Amino acid sequence: MQALILAGGKGTRLRPLTVYTPKPIVPVVNRPFLLYQIDVLRAAGITDITLSLSYQPDKIQQVLGNGAEFGVTLRYITEPSPMGTGGAYKFASDTIGETCVVFNGDILTNFDISKIVEFHRAKNSSATIALATVDDPTRYGLVGVGDGQRVERFIEKPKADEIGGLDINTINAGIYVLEPSILELIPVDTNRSFEYDVFPEILTRELPFYAYLMQDEYWQDIGTPANYLAAHHDFLNGKISGFELERGAVSDVATRSEIDKLSFIGEGCVIKPGVKIINSVIGTGVHVEEKAVIENSVIWSHSRIASSAEIRNAIIGRSCHIGRNAIVGAGTVLGDKTSLTDYTKTVNSE
Ligand code: GDD
Ligand code: MG
Repeated sequence: MQALILAGGKGTRLRPLTVYTPKPIVPVVNRPFLLYQIDVLRAAGITDITLSLSYQPDKIQQVLGNGAEFGVTLRYITEPSPMGTGGAYKFASDTIGETCVVFNGDILTNFDISKIVEFHRAKNSSATIALATVDDPTRYGLVGVGDGQRVERFIEKPKADEIGGLDINTINAGIYVLEPSILELIPVDTNRSFEYDVFPEILTRELPFYAYLMQDEYWQDIGTPANYLAAHHDFLNGKISGFELERGAVSDVATRSEIDKLSFIGEGCVIKPGVKIINSVIGTGVHVEEKAVIENSVIWSHSRIASSAEIRNAIIGRSCHIGRNAIVGAGTVLGDKTSLTDYTKTVNSE
C-alpha cells in the first residue's frame, strides 16, 4: 500500500507564518508538521510515501530527506505549477500502481488508517473518504451519506443557503483510499480538484464511493492561525493521544522562573528569573528575559522576548524580537524576523 500526501498548497490562510516556511513543515509542538502524518501512516504499515509538492519544495525536502530517519521511504514529485488536488494525484500517477491512501497535507489526526483501508476493501470500493464531524461545515467539503455508507452528495465549501435544509455536519476529513481506476477520470496535465471535479464525477458515474465516519479520533485542519494554535493547546492538554512528544530538552532555565507543566520548551533556550510561561510552546534557542510572560502562545525558534513583555494567545515566528514591556495580544501572528519596538501594543488599549 502506498500513500500520497498533497502538500503543494501555498498556505495562504496561515500567512505570514508560511512566507518562509511551507505549511507542511510548520512546527507543531516543535516538530515539522508532516512528521505527524508520517507517524500515522507508518503505524498502519504504510512506508512508501510520495510527497506532492509545488510551493517551496526544496525546503520540505531538506527537512524530511529520504525518510530513513523516520522509518519510511519518501519520494518527491514537484509540479511545475499547482495542478490542484486531483491534478496532483494524476501528476504522481507514474509512482502509483496500486491502491493509494491520499492525505491532505495539513490535517492533524491520530486516526488508525488501517480501519479505513479495511472498510474500503470490505466494500469493494473505488474511492473511500474519511469523514469528520464539525460544528460549522461551511469551511469544508460537506459529504452526505446514504444506505450502507454510500456517498450521495459532495458539496465543497457550501454557502449557508445550500446547507440550510440539509442537516449534515459530516465533512471530508481529507483522507482518501483510491483505486488506480480513479486516475482514469482525471485528464493529464490539467488542473483538477478532487473536491470540485473528481468527486462529483465519481457520483455521476455511480462508481462505488463510500464514506468512513471517524468517531473518537482527533481531527483538525491546521491551515489557519486559530486552528494551528488550537492544535497546540489540544496537544498540551492531552487531547491528542498516540504521538510521542519529547519534553525535557536541555535549556538554561532560571530557578526563579515559573513554567507550568503543560508547556514545552525547546533545546538551547534561556529563561531568565521572574519569567512566567503558561500553556505554551517555545521553540529551540529562544531567549526570554526577566519577568516576561508567555501564555497560551507558540513561539518559534530563535526569537527573543525582552524583559517584562507579555504575550498571550499569539503566534510569534522565527527570529523575532519582542521589545521590553511590549504587550502582544490575542490573535496576533508575527512573521519571521518581526521586530517590535519596546512598549509596542498589539491589543486595543486606552
Ligand atoms: N500538490 C498540490 N498541488 N497540493 C495541493 C494543491 C496543488 O495544486 N492545492 C492544494 N494542495 C494541498 C494543500 O497543500 C493541502 O495540504 C491540501 O491540498 C488541501 O488544500 P487546502 O487548501 O488546505 O484545502 P481546504 O482546507 O480549503 O479544503 C480541503 O480540506 C478540507 C479538510 O481540511 C478540502 O479537501 C475539503 O473538502 C476538506 O473538508
Ligand atoms: Mg486545509
